[in-house]
Amino acid sequence: MAPVLAVTAQRGRHETILVLDFGGQYTQLIARKVRECGVYCEIVASDIAPDAVRARGARGLILSGGPDSVYADNAPPFDPRVLALEIPVLGICYGMQLMVHALGGTVRGGGIREYGHATITVKQAGLLLAGLGSSEPVWMSHGDEIVSLPQGFSELAATADASNAAAEDAGRRLFAMAFHPEVAHTARGTEVLRNFLFRICGCDGDWSMASFLQEACDEVRGAVGELGHVLCGVSGGVDSSVAAQVIHRAIGDRLTCLFVDTGLLRKGEAAEVLDRFRRTYRLKVHHCDASGRFLDALRDVEDPERKRRIIGEVFVRVFEEEARRIAGAEKIRFLGQGTLYPDLIESRSVKGPSATIKTHHNVGGLPERMDMQVVEPLRWLFKDEVRRLGAELGLDRELLTRHPFPGPGLAVRILGAVSPERVRVLQEADAIFIEEIRREGLYDTIAQAFAVLLPVRSVGVMGDGRTYENVLALRAVDTADFMTADWSRLPHEFLARVSRRIVNEVRGINRIVYDVSSKPPSTIEWE
Ligand code: XMP
Repeated sequence: MAPVLAVTAQRGRHETILVLDFGGQYTQLIARKVRECGVYCEIVASDIAPDAVRARGARGLILSGGPDSVYADNAPPFDPRVLALEIPVLGICYGMQLMVHALGGTVRGGGIREYGHATITVKQAGLLLAGLGSSEPVWMSHGDEIVSLPQGFSELAATADASNAAAEDAGRRLFAMAFHPEVAHTARGTEVLRNFLFRICGCDGDWSMASFLQEACDEVRGAVGELGHVLCGVSGGVDSSVAAQVIHRAIGDRLTCLFVDTGLLRKGEAAEVLDRFRRTYRLKVHHCDASGRFLDALRDVEDPERKRRIIGEVFVRVFEEEARRIAGAEKIRFLGQGTLYPDLIESRSVKGPSATIKTHHNVGGLPERMDMQVVEPLRWLFKDEVRRLGAELGLDRELLTRHPFPGPGLAVRILGAVSPERVRVLQEADAIFIEEIRREGLYDTIAQAFAVLLPVRSVGVMGDGRTYENVLALRAVDTADFMTADWSRLPHEFLARVSRRIVNEVRGINRIVYDVSSKPPSTIEWE
């Protein structure tokens, strides 16, 4: 395997908080919220050893939420010695119960369970709840009940149903709460997190996008050297665009971009991407129109996972061939990639269960085959941070706020076999849907919207004639993290207008349906 450059600029340079991941659904959100407060934060395994915590120079630890009970058979492993390092520790929900259990308090399995909205009464603010009112709305989710706190702890808050909603042992610098400060429903949660970060851990907040950009550029220069050249694949998406821009800022013209047009992009998108990169960003872009190869390879293929595999394989082959064709290719020893932090965390809660339902990493295998060193300037960032970095770099808003688009493109939105004609029909219909969404001012309120061409024909009537044409589905979803999603409640009049326009303007479609399924149990894409 090609060596991956250990890009370590963020590590060790900044005040760092470590989140021990017990598999809770909000683990990633905790880390993002800490970073939003200006403190660098990483997610680590739940059983990190005391030496490793010290080696990372952590200013504080946060024990995340997790399974229902500390008594569960599959409870994640934990090394309780990290509680005795004299580094402040904050336990959240399961993390609180674990802390109480480990230090000799009593947790009763199957006791009072609280999920969702609750109100806490603050009995004494202590350090953790300083500044809060006497009564505050919070978001709870815990299965077990804390019956007694370990010695040295005092209770800070309770709900109507249960005591010990928050507690602390200021002497040992241990803090805990049964509610989630990182969730928006906990109105003053950010203040509680700030108390922990700034008052308790003594952080100053030395992490910002501007400092990140500076260091990421230094790091790319350090890795690539004075003379090295980098090749960066660009798809038109946010991640690869921002990665290319960071590398360009670091090494200028020694960056060459490669854009492989799969022919499975949205209408007019290939031309837009090229125009943006060449004219607006003034980057060197090598363009390869490989649509014929992708469509040939997909002929008669119906199974979605086979489609993904084929697209991944053809992509790697085309990319390799084209890379060799680029002028001065022999000089290029580095491959730039827009890999993000969640791709690198070996943790189920961050990857989410959908990781195993669809093979999303359809363009894997590139670095191994190409014998190049990998440069990944975004490897410490979450998705929303990449957008902020893009804004710092001056990238246009339209690019930064684009809805996500799957790597296999329209191939997984044409159910059944893909053909040039079906790609055309879907591109036309999708373009009308998105145009109307923008015109109505809905684009930024919807997380993702697209059209799906179904392998079903239905009877219609146009003028005096009978038609027998394709059915098209429209999909729009609201979601924050794409792991769960709800269908967007689009106005009926709006849907009526989109439906009318598509049936009138796109030859081959005579019926439109709107998808009213949530994820779970459905997924966002249809394939
Ligand atoms: P699902 O359909 O799993 O989608 O609910 C969640 C998010 O992932 C995107 N998606 C993909 N992205 N390659 C990608 O790069 C894929 O094969 C793929 N499949 C789904 C989807 O568009 C949504 O944003």
